[in-house]
Order: sequence, then C-alpha cells, then structure tokens
Amino acid sequence: MANDSVAIYPGSFDPITNGHVDLVRRTLRVFDKVVVAIATNPDKDHSLFSVDERLDMIRQVFTSEKGRVEADSFQGLLVDYAERRGSPVIIRGLRAVSDFEYEFQMAMMNHRLKPQLETFFMMTGESEFYISSRLVKEVVSLGGDVAGLVPENVLKRLNAKFRH
Ligand code: PNS
Repeated sequence: MANDSVAIYPGSFDPITNGHVDLVRRTLRVFDKVVVAIATNPDKDHSLFSVDERLDMIRQVFTSEKGRVEADSFQGLLVDYAERRGSPVIIRGLRAVSDFEYEFQMAMMNHRLKPQLETFFMMTGESEFYISSRLVKEVVSLGGDVAGLVPENVLKRLNAKFRH
C-alpha cells in the first residue's frame, strides 16, 4: 500500500539478538512496516557473519511478520538510504546510559545531513537491556551458552561458527 508508514531500523546485526527482535516487534505496533537494514562497509568489515548470512537469519526470525518486516542491506550514508526507501524515521534502541553519547552523536549528525529525517529512540525491553551482539559473540567464542538471548536459528549458527 502506498500510504504505509515505514521505519528504518539500521544496524550491524552481527548477529540479530533478542533485543533487536523485541525492538522490531514493538516498532510494528506503531509503524506498518519496519525495514531492518544492515549497514555494510566492504573496506572496514570485521563481521563474524556475511551480509547474506545476516539477512538470512533476520528473514527466518520474522517469517510470521512477512510483508511487515523486510531485511535489506545498504552501503553509504544511512540518511541517503532512508530517503531512497521513502522513510522519514530511523529507529534506534537505547540500552544503558553508555549508549547515549554514541546515539546522540549519530542522531545529531544525521539530523544535520537530513533535517527532515527523525530518529526515534526506544528503550530496550527490561529482559534484553544487557544483550549486545558483541557480548553474545564473545561469550559463545569462549564456550558460554547464550540460549534465550538470541533467536534459535541464530544460536545454531553461532554454535556452528565456533564449532560447539
Ligand atoms: O549496530 P550499530 O553498529 O551500532 O549500527 C551503527 C549504524 C549502522 C547505524 C551506523 O554505523 C550507520 O548509520 N552506518 C551507515 C553509514 C552512515 O550513515 N554513517 C554516518 C552515521 S552519523
């Protein structure tokens, strides 16, 4: 539908965690559609999962919301991507206070680049506020269990990467 409200949820999603999933589902209460957009930078890529693997995992997680959640990737500036996709809103999650400075800088820079684009912040759910992709990878790489912190399909892929 031409008049659907669309929000872009950008990030690295390396990999998607239950914190991200919670944020997408809550965003769907307000917007008709969420584009989960993986930012790629071939020159500075230290990701564990390839872009295709990350897209695949996101699509599997949201099969029941198909049509309302789209997984995509982009290169270049987020503000240009949001414009191309016709979305006036960027969604970002805020966990602890430590997220604030980085998020504030990005929101201000994006606002300067494209003032008509708004960043909406959502507080991460109380059971997900300490989860991050970085910590999840570290824990699994050292043999720890992250069941319950990431979707099942992601857990399997993480364990396969580290051969547990
Ligand atoms: O999940 P992350 O790594 O915290 O997400 C950061 C992300 C992808 C949102 C940010 O790095 C980004 O927007 N990258 C795209 C390039 C860009 O627009 N950079 C300027 C940001 S002010």
